[in-house]
Amino acid sequence: MQIRQLERIGIGNFPTPLEALPRLSSKLGPRIFVKREDMTGLAMGGNKVRKLDYLLVDALKKKSDILITTSGLQSNWARQTTAAAVKLGMKALLMLRTAQFKEVPTSYDGNLLLDHLMGAEVRFLKMEIDSDPSSALNAVSEELKKKGHNPYLLHLSAAESPLTTVAYVDAMKEIVGQSRGEEFDHVVVAAGGGSTQAGLALGAKILKLKTKVWGINVGAFKKSTITDTIVESSAEASELLGETEKLDRDEINISDEYFGEGYGINTPASLEAIKLTASSDALIIDPVYTAKAMSGLVDLCRKGFFKKSDKICFIHTGGVPALFAYRDSFPMSQQNKID
Ligand SMILES: Cc1ncc(COP(=O)(O)O)c(C=O)c1O
Repeated sequence: MQIRQLERIGIGNFPTPLEALPRLSSKLGPRIFVKREDMTGLAMGGNKVRKLDYLLVDALKKKSDILITTSGLQSNWARQTTAAAVKLGMKALLMLRTAQFKEVPTSYDGNLLLDHLMGAEVRFLKMEIDSDPSSALNAVSEELKKKGHNPYLLHLSAAESPLTTVAYVDAMKEIVGQSRGEEFDHVVVAAGGGSTQAGLALGAKILKLKTKVWGINVGAFKKSTITDTIVESSAEASELLGETEKLDRDEINISDEYFGEGYGINTPASLEAIKLTASSDALIIDPVYTAKAMSGLVDLCRKGFFKKSDKICFIHTGGVPALFAYRDSFPMSQQNKID
């Protein structure tokens, strides 16, 4: 089936690989594969590259010279936006909320270090992850305009806009092309705002797949908010693509069981998941998103919800640079020993 192709820049490495995880599969039962969205390119990759590939078409048309955006201190979105700006010959100004880290940092680490190396101007906002920094962004945009710049604002909502859902319909098309004629039974993905899940689920519906998409809430938003985003974003994306399929609320699967105390806070199961995938198949996942999602996948296999006969695709949405900012979660007192 041909789905309409909208304009995109071509800044990412697509298609991303789909790899088998044979050792993890033999430990957990089902056949598990990983879609390497951490290999999309742009300064260590992640799911935002696909999204920016569509979103920045407008910035290029408007001949903008600076991308302004916002998120948390260890934001993957901010890092990938900075990388896109650099690749496109622009500058990046980041307004980063302290969120789960509470305080303004005193040294660069993880994503923040990469933002700095790529030349982003970083300003810090002492704000929670669910507070809205729009007015601060608007003010900085005005400040830059007065200096003669032509800034392009990417508000928080940009990362979840319908075009970003279109981007993940593409990912589902890639998965189908890479699945060697045997459709996946399940796709498991981290749900932050929800547009990645929206695109995958919409793609599965448009392509009439049996594949069920399971979002694991990472705790940045309430399940009802994510569901609203998915319903709205998938309806608008479908229209953009000239399709009629829509997602109803009861077709959206989101689990609230795995984020623990909250966004960015490790759980024993997320720490186990990081070590498990790394030591099984040398697959490095991140603490904030993919480890929570993987802890869900592991639990659903162990509970027998995912069956031995199932073929499962885990979406590695990226975020690995943040792992280094979480080094204290892996103390040297717990050294590996070969027996
Ligand atoms: C590594 C990683 N995984 C998953 C997500 C969540 O994506 P979405 O907001 O589309 O649910 C993000 C977004 O911030 C991310 O950085």
